[in-house]
Amino acid sequence: MNRRIAIAEPDLSRLEEEYALAAIRSTWISSTGEYLTRFEQEFADACGCPHALAVSNGTTAIHLALAALNVGPGDEVIVPSMTYIATANAVRYCGAEPVFVDVEPTTWCLDPARLEEAITPRTKGVIAVHLLGHPADMDPILEIAAIHGLWVVEDAAEATFATYKGRTVGGLGRIGTFSFFGNKVLTCGEGGAVTFQDPVLATRLRMLRGQGMDPRQRYYFPIVGFNYRLTNLAAAILCGQMERRADILRRRREIVALYEARLRDVPGIGLRTDAEWAVTSPWMFAATIDGPAGIDRDAVARRLADDGIETRPLFVPIHALPPYRAAHNARGTELPVTGRLGREGIMLPTHTLLADGDIHQVCDRLIAAVEAARPVQGRLRVA
Ligand SMILES: Cc1ncc(COP(=O)(O)O)c(C=O)c1O
Repeated sequence: MNRRIAIAEPDLSRLEEEYALAAIRSTWISSTGEYLTRFEQEFADACGCPHALAVSNGTTAIHLALAALNVGPGDEVIVPSMTYIATANAVRYCGAEPVFVDVEPTTWCLDPARLEEAITPRTKGVIAVHLLGHPADMDPILEIAAIHGLWVVEDAAEATFATYKGRTVGGLGRIGTFSFFGNKVLTCGEGGAVTFQDPVLATRLRMLRGQGMDPRQRYYFPIVGFNYRLTNLAAAILCGQMERRADILRRRREIVALYEARLRDVPGIGLRTDAEWAVTSPWMFAATIDGPAGIDRDAVARRLADDGIETRPLFVPIHALPPYRAAHNARGTELPVTGRLGREGIMLPTHTLLADGDIHQVCDRLIAAVEAARPVQGRLRVA
């Protein structure tokens, strides 16, 4: 019997253990401490951005960014529907409405060609999601946004250290947001960050992160803020991860390259086409299973589960989910690429603790499952 292959596992070493222990022994376990200062500096440098603030997770990072940009009731924010729910939820936390646009069939990221038609007098900005490690095509997105006086927030939760035309994501829009959840390229369990160029935003983001406290007067709160701080204990783990990031990225890239080599030309399996201007971040590897050819993605996933291989369906398009369906239907916009990816997309195990043999096993079982699910003479073969 083959061992179970998990879809994601954090890669934590003696270094993260040592730093976490040092944080505990120092008694600085809340939201002040040397590890926090160090992580924020190192992460900003790594993103080529003058400023980074650590926050409690990737969802609060987006909410904080939108709050700092004064998003409020009556506003609209354009987002792709093919993303994790947090991107849209953060817009609703502000009392605003997400307006969904389709993604490109190649990169699976927000399609700049569909952006302009979604803009209304209520639109305040765009959240460009760098999906599954691939940067969104930022230049046309920024250009259209500038013409209409809109800001762009980058949701880089899934794309830490990816680059767009040689520039690291997180420093391309007004604010970049990141997640350090357990399945991410860098992790501390639950954590996140915001990155930005504009020093004026620094004070506002800091205040909003810390309950609205006045930086010049402790325990005086001139605005309503949130407690979205990260702990020094979590930052200690992130400092370890930052030191080890070259090794983590190298191994994850090897795994992604192996998947691509094995699956690129398999009939019934589709892969994203990486843009020539992108250096992707090796987050979760995903493929599509050819629905029009009659191959059922969920049947393939069940077979893999029977073989002890954990997978995840790609995101259910947000515009089809109960909290967002009615408003989207009222607009009547078609999102065909998003719909197809939602039906056909599957995420495969991607983490540094996997050996090459594990990836070959996943590919062997996936190819066999796709073959078994292929219809024969117009009928589905019985699995
Ligand atoms: C695109 C995207 N945005 C936001 C988030 C939210 O991050 P977190 O889970 O840390 O709140 C995620 C998390 O998976 C994500 O994939």
